[in-house]
Amino acid sequence: MNITKICCIGAGYVGGPTMSVIAQKCPHITVTIVDINEARIAAWNDSDLTKLPVYEPGLAEVVAEARGRNLFFSTDVDTAIAEADMVFISVNTPTKTYGKGKGMAADLKFIELCARQIAAAATSDKIVVEKSTLPVRTAEALKSILHNTGNGVNFHILSNPEFLAEGTAVQDLHNPDRVLIGGETPEAVNALVDIYATWVPRERVLTTNLWSSELSKLTANAFLAQRVSSINAISELCERTGANVDEVSRAIGTDSRIGSKFLKASVGFGGSCFQKDILNLVYIARSYGLHEVAHYWEQVIIMNDHQKQRFADNIVQTMYNTVSGKKIAFLGWAFKKDTNDTRESAAIYVADSLLDEEANIIVYDPKVSAKQIYADLDYLCTRSPEENRRLVTVIETPYEAIQGAHAIAVLTEWDEFKGYDWKRIKDNMMKPAFVFDGRKLLANNNLSDIGFNYYAIGE
Ligand code: NAD
Ligand code: UGA
Repeated sequence: MNITKICCIGAGYVGGPTMSVIAQKCPHITVTIVDINEARIAAWNDSDLTKLPVYEPGLAEVVAEARGRNLFFSTDVDTAIAEADMVFISVNTPTKTYGKGKGMAADLKFIELCARQIAAAATSDKIVVEKSTLPVRTAEALKSILHNTGNGVNFHILSNPEFLAEGTAVQDLHNPDRVLIGGETPEAVNALVDIYATWVPRERVLTTNLWSSELSKLTANAFLAQRVSSINAISELCERTGANVDEVSRAIGTDSRIGSKFLKASVGFGGSCFQKDILNLVYIARSYGLHEVAHYWEQVIIMNDHQKQRFADNIVQTMYNTVSGKKIAFLGWAFKKDTNDTRESAAIYVADSLLDEEANIIVYDPKVSAKQIYADLDYLCTRSPEENRRLVTVIETPYEAIQGAHAIAVLTEWDEFKGYDWKRIKDNMMKPAFVFDGRKLLANNNLSDIGFNYYAIGE
């Protein structure tokens, strides 16, 4: 199977970067990324590379190299499908907000719509690749839809879950720990192996059956999130006992069986996937009657919700049990540094909790727009959009945001925060000046020596 044309449905945080890197590394393959969101496609096509819809270090350079050569962004989904040898499905698979499985199961309606559109538009044989994160055995449903509604052409289904992390997406794609490909037809599997082998060492391209591949993706995210919840659980114990969570992380992380990564205590994990994928795992386990398995993984989410809540509670308690009318400056809104993504960011929930206490919140984030911040708060439906705009102000310069604040809360670990003039900041704040560091980011800035009341997670 010789692949010369690829189509990817979904130009989001995964479709955009993954396909841009395939196009960059495989100039002999034409890659067309399609989406029904016209504004998103227009942004991908913008000649001003600072306007790309996804902010990722190094991505603009990759797009600049390949776009117009063998990388194209379009809203013409049918044509791109019809012309492609291989079609990736990289659409969103959010948690269901209605019906059976509401709040737990993955909503597969976008996946089904893609399958039906592929079946209708395909006039030649295709390899269809699941790039989205999906419940185990979704390929069975895809197969059924494609074979029952297609035009008599052959479809081979592969699972190729994506393991990139936002903020390091380009680096992760250029140099992945592994690429995972699940499939039933060796020729189809090999066709995709050959594409990755253009730049990834062969031994790092793992092949499995379809179901192992689908389940490995959910399992990987569950294990990663579990590590964060585990260290966050210990952070609370550190705060009571005089231990320091960073020291504990270092002490356990040097054990090669445990390893040092993903042991950074925080205000709680965010992002579009950890919570959604664990909830999905829990739902799948329950649907097979595996209640102990479901219960086990559910604790990871419960611990994470607790971590966000207790960070907010600690701010209120420390500030004499009231933040009503007080100005609290949020440094960071994104769910981690080096991304403009705010989905499930801990900042949203901490803000919501403090707004319940009638705090005034001033937000500064170097990459997140005011529009996005208000959209995140409005989505919660806790209070009216007018109320959110009355209580929350978004400011584009950090020193202005902090002027006259009673407290600062660090929600995202942006590097630039470490370089601020903290003496100047303290002089311009209400006294006593509080800093609540949800990332343990400013541990080396000697804030206590400068005169701040400094509180960090796990200390
Ligand atoms: P996203 O919301 O950023 O992008 C999805 C895109 O698909 C949207 O632009 C949407 O308009 C488009 N879309 C939906 N239905 C469509 C249709 N029928 N036709 C054309 N376009 C359609 O989502 P994302 O973050 O890129 O995630 C996509 C998938 O990848 C999810 O399953 C997610 O779990 C998984 N994943 C995400 C990450 C990540 O870092 N964000 C990493 C690994 C895996
Ligand atoms: C995560 C996984 O790392 C990727 O492998 C996976 O592909 C992706 O989910 C996905 O399926 O969407 P991502 O959510 O982009 O990637 O970012 P992470 O670096 O994993 O961080 C997730 C959250 O955990 C962030 O809020 C981060 O601040 C937090 N975190 C991470 C910690 O609090 N402590 C840590 O030690 C690590």
